[in-house]
Amino acid sequence: MKDLETVREEALSEIRRTKDLQELQSVKAKYLGKRGVVTEALKRIREIPPEDRKEYGRKVNQVKEAIEEAVRKREEELKREEVEREILSEWADLTVPLQNTAGSLHPITVTLRRIVDIFRGMGFTVEEGPEVELERYNFDMLNIPEDHPARDMQDTFYINREGYLLRTHTSPVQIRTMLRRKPPIQMVAPGKVYRRDDDPTHSPMFHQVEGLVVNEEANFRHMKYVIESFLREFFQTDLPVRFRASYFPFTEPSAEVDIGCVICGMEGCRVCKGTGWLEVMGCGMVHPDVLEVCGVDTDIFQGFAFGMGVERLAMLLFGIDNIKLFFENDIRFIRQFS
Ligand code: DAH
Repeated sequence: MKDLETVREEALSEIRRTKDLQELQSVKAKYLGKRGVVTEALKRIREIPPEDRKEYGRKVNQVKEAIEEAVRKREEELKREEVEREILSEWADLTVPLQNTAGSLHPITVTLRRIVDIFRGMGFTVEEGPEVELERYNFDMLNIPEDHPARDMQDTFYINREGYLLRTHTSPVQIRTMLRRKPPIQMVAPGKVYRRDDDPTHSPMFHQVEGLVVNEEANFRHMKYVIESFLREFFQTDLPVRFRASYFPFTEPSAEVDIGCVICGMEGCRVCKGTGWLEVMGCGMVHPDVLEVCGVDTDIFQGFAFGMGVERLAMLLFGIDNIKLFFENDIRFIRQFS
């Protein structure tokens, strides 16, 4: 009995003196393990005279429980100390004033502002629409039929609410603007758009700027003039621009706009795939059906529209070859555009 009391006291003091969890584990094993002091004491119960066994067993179990309890407590303490040590080692005084920490604008912000400012200078207003958009505005009212591949789950992020999605382009802002205001309209709409696309030239979230002009004499020549003027202002050179016949459900006729490759000066390179031309936007005369569903009288009004990808223009303007760089938030990258 006296022996057990000593075991208990020695165990508790060894436990108290442990400095880390590993040490605690070995002390625990020394007393409670398979060959541990307490375990061996329990085995010896057979050597005890029968009349004393009950008392002996009770005593050993008390000692065992006391040691277990002490191990648990010490384990908690050691864990807490470890966390505190970690916090202290990572501590930084966030209130210390630093030098040279003025922020700089993200290259996409720089590009968006550059685009929007040019159109403001030409008398366009700036409109905005929601990123969670009605399927009706994103597709139906833009004359995009039910079975169009763009509507596929493969291409579009649908959300958990019938009739809503993450807008796949900024074109629904055309619809919103025409529903809200009477012509003449002359607006641009910058913003984020979402598509299920992910590779070195495509990101699932990217930016577009939409343009819409509706008035009594809008025509294809006006559109060409506006777009050419914009591109020359944006790139600050008198670059070649060509309009290539194309198809969009919401415009008729439709065109895609190419510029002479700004990377190779039209010699032919990897970026322009050897053609000397780069596609930078889509455009066209607004389809009469689109005007009609928005309540615009097509006997009086016509319109043209265009839409461009901001990342692509930024990559060309700054000579960046991977779209992912825009979204990694590497401060060394972003700093270069201040
Ligand atoms: N919404 C088209 C897209 O995301 C771009 C576009 C093309 C917009 C022609 C227009 C347009 O307004 O007239 O690919």
